[in-house]
Amino acid sequence: MKVIAIANQKGGTAKTTSTAAVGLLLSRRGYRVHLIDADPQASLSQAFGISDREDRFACSLIDGEQLPIDMLDNNLSMTPGTVALATCEAQLLTTPGREFFLRTCLEKTKLPEDAVVLVDSPPSLGVLAMNCLAAAGGLLVTVQPGGFEIRALAFLETTVQVICKNVNPGLVVLGILLTNCHRRRGITRQVNEEVAQLHGVLGTIRSDARILYATTAGRMLHLRKSNALDDYANVVDQLEESIW
Ligand SMILES: Nc1ncnc2c1ncn2[C@@H]1O[C@H](COP(=O)(O)OP(=O)(O)OP(=O)(O)O)[C@@H](O)[C@H]1O
Ligand SMILES: [Mg+2]
Repeated sequence: MKVIAIANQKGGTAKTTSTAAVGLLLSRRGYRVHLIDADPQASLSQAFGISDREDRFACSLIDGEQLPIDMLDNNLSMTPGTVALATCEAQLLTTPGREFFLRTCLEKTKLPEDAVVLVDSPPSLGVLAMNCLAAAGGLLVTVQPGGFEIRALAFLETTVQVICKNVNPGLVVLGILLTNCHRRRGITRQVNEEVAQLHGVLGTIRSDARILYATTAGRMLHLRKSNALDDYANVVDQLEESIW
């Protein structure tokens, strides 16, 4: 099972959109994909039009039990997030081994051995985000070209080093996605050059109203024609060809 976290503690860098798009495309290519919405904002769940009144994910996490699996399509399933994850995070804060709860839950979850699990992390460096990084084998970092991105990335680098040293030595940074980009802007080129010195840039995703509407309207599953989705397809090509 491949577990990939999509993370950046900075808010609004398209973590959720990237998780949704990469997951959708992989499932359309025949992979068995499971999405985990580990953000109390529950945007990933909303993007696919689902919710969970019973807060099953938060309950599983606290108990260290198997995760709920809701089928979205033939090859695509999700553990939906809810706002209860915020309370859960506060509870975990004072619990020994607090970083490892998601990993334990995943180990107990009945998914096929060849499943690809994508974890949408919250915009923080808190316990939930640590759980995402501790459970993952690979990390995709989303960066939206802007003035504060490089500093945010430096924070994340430090966190990843701490995680690798103390919690999850197997964590590998798979690469960076430059998201929601205006390709002609100088800042896109500048940020691209700077982040490329840290890790491979797997793709530059165009800003595109279709993907924004699809996620906002909970219709991600039905998105087909979209510049951003085409760009995410190139990212998936690279994941398939050179990274796995
Ligand atoms: N390629 C794109 N084109 C247009 N809009 C985009 C694109 N990617 C993301 N967005 C929009 O940018 C906003 C932030 O994206 P998203 O919610 O995916 O980021 P996030 O990193 O998950 O945010 P948070 O840190 O709050 O979890 C959303 O309104 C989303 O629809
Ligand atoms: Mg998000």
